[in-house]
Amino acid sequence: MGNQTNPLRDAQDRRLPRIAGPSGLVIFGVTGDLSRKKLMPAVYDLSNRGLLPPGFSLVGFARRDWADEDFARVVHDSVKQHARTPFREEVWRQLSEGMRFVQGTFDDDDAFVRLRGTIDELDKARGTGGNFAFYLSVPPKFFPTVVRQLKKHQLSEGSGDSWRRAVIEKPFGHDLASARELNRVVHDVFPAHEVFRIDHYLGKETVQNILALRFANTMFEPLWNRSFVDHVQITMAEDIGIGGRAGYYDGIGSARDVIQNHLLQLLALTAMEEPSSFDADTLVTEKLKVLNAVKLPADLGAHTVRGQYAAGWQGGEKVAGYLEEDGIDPASVTDTYAAIKLEIDNRRWAGVPFYLRTGKRLGRRVTEIAVVFQRAPYSPFNTTDTQELGHNALVIRVQPDEGITVRFGSKVPGTQMEIRDVTMDFAYGESFTESSPEAYERLLLDLLLGDANLFPRHQEVERSWEILDPVEEFWASHGKPEPYTAGTWGPKAADDMLARDGRSWRRP
Ligand code: BG6
Repeated sequence: MGNQTNPLRDAQDRRLPRIAGPSGLVIFGVTGDLSRKKLMPAVYDLSNRGLLPPGFSLVGFARRDWADEDFARVVHDSVKQHARTPFREEVWRQLSEGMRFVQGTFDDDDAFVRLRGTIDELDKARGTGGNFAFYLSVPPKFFPTVVRQLKKHQLSEGSGDSWRRAVIEKPFGHDLASARELNRVVHDVFPAHEVFRIDHYLGKETVQNILALRFANTMFEPLWNRSFVDHVQITMAEDIGIGGRAGYYDGIGSARDVIQNHLLQLLALTAMEEPSSFDADTLVTEKLKVLNAVKLPADLGAHTVRGQYAAGWQGGEKVAGYLEEDGIDPASVTDTYAAIKLEIDNRRWAGVPFYLRTGKRLGRRVTEIAVVFQRAPYSPFNTTDTQELGHNALVIRVQPDEGITVRFGSKVPGTQMEIRDVTMDFAYGESFTESSPEAYERLLLDLLLGDANLFPRHQEVERSWEILDPVEEFWASHGKPEPYTAGTWGPKAADDMLARDGRSWRRP
């Protein structure tokens, strides 16, 4: 750990393609959605881009009674359906020769003995060098069993120079206590620097660009503080409902699902101080510092809102309300919308509210960070000249229309002085010919390279739960979420929450 970085060497390294060394990936829960929609296609795309070694191997572990060929067929279908890069027979052939399936349940010792045999066989046949990452794409209740089995069967430690890594998918617990317990169990088996927690938002190109925007330029950072910023809005809106995920979602809700992780990570990147370098330890120190300064307002009733979608219309179709969805308890009080005001107690941000909101079945799918600036301290114009002028704003459009917008006032052409909002736009598609790798592609590559920059550490995860827990406790003892019609922008209470502060939500 504590990699000493040499800026010159780093600069040279970054121009070279980053290619994973000899290695393999074992996926537990390989029959699940995540694996089929994201992990398998990401492995193929990496291979197709020439970023995996020729002997790279993929091992699936699940209960299904599959042979290696059945597994390879499922991967093939998933690649055909979800991969981003074109299908190439020779790439597929090379990759599929390294596919193995181990059938078993997590408490089945024989299955883990077979897994060990498979890994030994791949080391010999494919030159994987004993380097394996174990991806736990399974509900957290199985984590303890799987990691203990890995330890028991001597799979959790490499020998000599080889490495073994554990990859954990969210949810990292459902509150601080369960997250701590989870971390304890995993760290009991894997050293902290070999545990990679996936927050796929950190794998998104636009999210990585937050630090480039802030720290590679001179024109933004001088304004990025309480002297100029009025407030920040971080929005993650989805138009989809909960689909087939009732089992996971009900009882968890929107705040635990995405505020605890994705939105607080976005906040940390937006608000943190400049790191002295981009190595994982330095980044985590800065993110943690700002997360430690985050404070909830005293009156949670006034500054938090939760909602639940009711039947409505979306894209011209009638959609069911949350309580009518398959598998949902009709008396459920799970939030599908959450808005929370946070403050940051430090010199840069004192008094600047950060408003976080997320929801399912909202007007449209959009994730953005809007830094809203204060009005000019004095205006030489008549109020009628500027009545259509809003606050200046810089909006980082995380998705789907990736880019950055700057909003400012401009004189309307004509013989009178009238000032109105205009925007300046940067769009990835217009400025770059390079396509962005899918978040999971980037994260899997970093995992195999042992590069932990884009993976939250356990301290960040625990601190994020510490921030959210009082809100969840407050909600649990204060009635029900407020219904909102599917296809709208959430409950009225969320608008009231901002109106009380003299502000309003952006309508992206
Ligand atoms: C996941 C949440 O982490 O992120 C889902 O569990 C959500 O509920 C998803 O739909 C959204 O991801 P993206 O990349 O489509 O914004």
